Amino acid sequence: MMTVSGAMAADAEREVFGTLEDGTEIEAVVLSTEDGITARIITLGATLQSLQTPDKDGTLDDIVLGHDTPAEYLATPQYLGATIGRFANRIGNATFTLDGTEYTLEANDGDNHLHGGVTGFDKLVWTISDISEDENGASVTLSLTSPDGAGGYPGTVEASVTYMLDDDGTLTIDHRATTDKTTIINMTNHSYFNLSGHADMRPILGHDLMIPASAYTPVDSGLIPTGELRSVAETPFDFREPMRIGARVRNSTDEQIMLGLGYDHNFVLDTADDDMALAAKLSDPVSGRMIKIYTDKPAVQFYSGNFLDGTTPGKGGTLYRQGDGLCLEPQVYPDAPNKPDFPSARLEPGEEYVHVMKIKTGVAK
Ligand code: GLA
Repeated sequence: MMTVSGAMAADAEREVFGTLEDGTEIEAVVLSTEDGITARIITLGATLQSLQTPDKDGTLDDIVLGHDTPAEYLATPQYLGATIGRFANRIGNATFTLDGTEYTLEANDGDNHLHGGVTGFDKLVWTISDISEDENGASVTLSLTSPDGAGGYPGTVEASVTYMLDDDGTLTIDHRATTDKTTIINMTNHSYFNLSGHADMRPILGHDLMIPASAYTPVDSGLIPTGELRSVAETPFDFREPMRIGARVRNSTDEQIMLGLGYDHNFVLDTADDDMALAAKLSDPVSGRMIKIYTDKPAVQFYSGNFLDGTTPGKGGTLYRQGDGLCLEPQVYPDAPNKPDFPSARLEPGEEYVHVMKIKTGVAK
């Protein structure tokens, strides 16, 4: 137990999570509030490994998917709870051009590039650079150096992520990066939520979701945006009012639902100009749990966990299958480096990239 000052809102505890085959020790830091809300962050992938919150009866359970061992995080291509970078989501044909120079990235998703490539930020071991507790909450900062040319990206990037849990159960995730050469950056958190918890896991199709977005970016068969911004009106993508997720996901007449194998789309936030925009509100009518996601980025990827196929080893031996978790990944738009009309992902030397997102946990009133 690390204690800093008298009146603590939340505290931080450092522990060993496990060891990789090559002997590398993976550490965890557990942030917890006085009411028992806890977040466990591990150094592998600067990953949110667990998030325990109470339901309407005060019963605590883990609302994010994850693994019990470091090896499972390296072995499974689902990015459970990981920090994603350098560029979250897809880049078409694994190439982009910056100031006349073409860069070739790892094509780790068919012909396309996904989530920073084979050795993206999610597969690397980060360094714990700070742990602190004060009246605002408890936090851990993890940092990483990504050398020039890593995965095909230009520039040496210094990246950090700070997780801060405050005493009302809000988890802030603060992503930052600098570079020594013009490059692109788009960091996010890839948590899979299931508000029913792990003890008695029910499909997320029974959750209600609200996304303040009047438009989304439709995709091609490789899940690369076509470049169009399409209205959500009268489509299965209209979540401007809370909607039961399962209500329209089986809508086989909608080509975009077919291409996504469900929901796997970038929603353009109506609130994008706000400092901290509400990106989504998710609630589970049975447990009463609710989360709100806030971001300072212009969009959010809603992914309904379509590639979970019953072979992914989860916590306590649970095998995760389709419908066991969903992701809400705030971001700049996918393939932005190849789409001049999309908000830019450029980062210049001397600038600091910042992406702050918040996961506000609670129980629906
Ligand atoms: C993102 C993508 C999905 C899938 C998952 C990881 O959410 O949008 O298509 O690749 O990552 O499995």
